Amino acid sequence: MFPSTLPVHRRPAASDIPALRWGIVGPGWIADHFANALRHHTQQRLVAVSSRSKAKAEAFARKWEIPHACEGIDALLSRDEVDVVYIATPHNHHYPDGLRALGAGKHVLIEKPLALNALQAAALQQEACRQNRLCVEAMWCDFTPKYDVIRQLLEDGVLGDLHTLIADHGEFFTPDHRIFNADLAGGPMLDLGSYLLGFSGLVGGAPDSIVATGQPATDRVNGQISMLLTHPQGMHSVLNTTLFSNTPGRAVIAGRDATLVLDGQFYAPGNFRLTSSDNQHTLHWQEPANRYTQLCHEIEHIAWCIGRGLTDSPVRSLATSIATLTAMDEVRRQIGVVFNEEQTATIQ
Ligand SMILES: NC(=O)c1ccc[n+]([C@@H]2O[C@H](COP(=O)([O-])OP(=O)(O)OC[C@H]3O[C@@H](n4cnc5c(N)ncnc54)[C@H](OP(=O)(O)O)[C@@H]3O)[C@@H](O)[C@H]2O)c1
Repeated sequence: MFPSTLPVHRRPAASDIPALRWGIVGPGWIADHFANALRHHTQQRLVAVSSRSKAKAEAFARKWEIPHACEGIDALLSRDEVDVVYIATPHNHHYPDGLRALGAGKHVLIEKPLALNALQAAALQQEACRQNRLCVEAMWCDFTPKYDVIRQLLEDGVLGDLHTLIADHGEFFTPDHRIFNADLAGGPMLDLGSYLLGFSGLVGGAPDSIVATGQPATDRVNGQISMLLTHPQGMHSVLNTTLFSNTPGRAVIAGRDATLVLDGQFYAPGNFRLTSSDNQHTLHWQEPANRYTQLCHEIEHIAWCIGRGLTDSPVRSLATSIATLTAMDEVRRQIGVVFNEEQTATIQ
């Protein structure tokens, strides 16, 4: 039955979110937005930042009024006052940095993707378990109100049997961007593709089968990928990601009873509409495209989990992150993308 209103976003009570002391590793582009969201949209505290360069750490610390500027991750991890570490380094540093932070007894929020591949992600999961610490992939969209409402619509079966998910995520990058750098695990898969495979998994579950085709950007970096996934209940996902061009970034979830259309960028705050299959009823979700301020939801979720003594997030579990990376591994196997760190048989 088509609902009369959209579900209400579920959010923990402010009293259940302890004010924790955060350290940031990798003060780059996303870390700047993260610091802004944390400072201005949560009750959390920034107490330390680390960079490979002391001067860069100091500049970031000055900007965001952070008391401790550290040269190198180990200097940050040795500080007792850091409760939880946000890792915002390039993809191929997530695994070693995350392992180090957990080994130092810190809770950790690791930028997406959690690691380069499922094997590394499973090793992070083991270490988090051994240290009894929370480890979560910063798949920030999963924690936003929009995704929570969509998750409830799916749980309530409002769309009926799901048949098709169509989504794209293409962005134009200049050649100097890290995404073209083979030594930083470049290419769209781990970056833009995280949102596509994360969303298709959230809607349809881990895929049963994948067919992928790729196009190189350079001799060592992939430039675009198109993917066709089948999911356990029969849904197909048709996905494209490219770093050559801007694409609309829309997503469509088509069910037997209703269709949900998300404006681009589908994973970021913005509008969607839900229309019944007979076109008689439509519900609208409307919100400002305040993309980076909504990083506050993942930040508060982490503090809430730690406050409750959880070692895994009920919203973005490590099993979900591993399932996403398993799908990415299969895509890369089919298009022949192997990262530097994977050139040997063991985890690097
Ligand atoms: N949630 C989101 O919306 C979002 C958006 C963009 C990116 N991301 C993710 O966040 C991560 C960082 O992306 P970004 O765009 O912020 O990258 P970025 O601007 O290049 O920043 C990465 C930071 O990592 C540090 N770093 C450590 N080792 C490095 C190395 N070998 N080479 C280069 N930098 C190194 C650098 O800090 P120092 O030089 O100071 O050490 C640098 O500032 C990526 O994994 C990406 O997928 C998430």
